Amino acid sequence: MTGNRSLLLLPGDYIGTEVVAEARRVVEWFGTRLSISFDIDQALIGGSAYDVHQVPVTDETIERAKQADAVLLGAIDGPKWEKVPFELQPPRGLLRLRKEMGLFANLRPAICFDTLTNASTLKPEVVSGLDILIVRELIGGIYFGEPRGIETLSDGQRRGVNTQVYTTHEIERIAHVGFDMAKKRRGKVTSVDKANAMEAGLLWREVVQEVHDRDYPDVQLEHMFVDNCAMQLVSAPKQFDVILTDNLFGDILSDEAAMLTGSIGMLPSAALGAAAGDGKSRALYEPVHGSAPDIAGQNIANPIATILSFVMALRHSFDLHKEADLVDAAINNVLASGLRTRDIMQDGNTELSTQEMGAAIIAELDKLTA
Ligand code: IPM
Ligand code: MG
Repeated sequence: MTGNRSLLLLPGDYIGTEVVAEARRVVEWFGTRLSISFDIDQALIGGSAYDVHQVPVTDETIERAKQADAVLLGAIDGPKWEKVPFELQPPRGLLRLRKEMGLFANLRPAICFDTLTNASTLKPEVVSGLDILIVRELIGGIYFGEPRGIETLSDGQRRGVNTQVYTTHEIERIAHVGFDMAKKRRGKVTSVDKANAMEAGLLWREVVQEVHDRDYPDVQLEHMFVDNCAMQLVSAPKQFDVILTDNLFGDILSDEAAMLTGSIGMLPSAALGAAAGDGKSRALYEPVHGSAPDIAGQNIANPIATILSFVMALRHSFDLHKEADLVDAAINNVLASGLRTRDIMQDGNTELSTQEMGAAIIAELDKLTA
């Protein structure tokens, strides 16, 4: 089969370009080795788009992203663009892309890999076997609510405003994703809000409960305030299966959850839109980690999170499950043989560069398909 699986690569800034280059080799391997080919297109986003186009994402790139079967993004942002006006800063490009693609559902797994249990700052027994899925609402809430802005008051003070706002529909559609995911996992959803302080949180809690009672009576549902959840995540993280939460809380909790696995260089994510008639949805995949300016250009970043993001694309966007399993197996074998990038090095391991890790995974793919 050739040709019509389309993938748009958006490497972004700093290590984003380094890790996407390795993922691209895996994508191309499928074409040359297994004749499962992808039409690969590539464009700029974030600071690298700003440098060329004076905007962090162009209309044309948004159009191409909407047309593609899947988008694979590296990472954006960095100190170079600190002085750029707020509306043109790299994160604004990513937020606009998510919004215009309609990617309301963000899936952020936090998994503790067996080989990396000792890399966590928490005790191994607290995190070993950890497997949480954070389902974050991605295009609503305080990130996008109106009114927003900075105004100058008559007394000369300035006032910054953002608005936390959710409608029933927005809560319902993300709640469905959370419950559907839980059904495929261990059957438990923890819905996280701040209903003791905010009306938007109160509505969140009510609507999630209604969706549960109406459509998912077999899934276990509990509600938790976000401050308590932040605490529980570091004290007893294994109590969680799916954490269902809003845009801002999901941003914060997903960093916390990723870091407690000790494997942040290993964690992929997916942002999905509503399913169209053919069951397919728009989708953007990206590693959980950021652009890491401090290690950029040194060929030491871990490309595995980005390669695993492509694995998520193989499953969710391309229905290529056996092929996804194959890449998973290749990565596991490479790690099991003690080959590591610097971030996940342990005693007795062999350190690989970013490019060497990409090559090691390709070599393992060759071996598995020999
Ligand atoms: C993330 C990032 C973004 C977010 C930033 C870059 C706007 O922190 O994907 O978690 O807050 O959503
Ligand atoms: Mg974040």
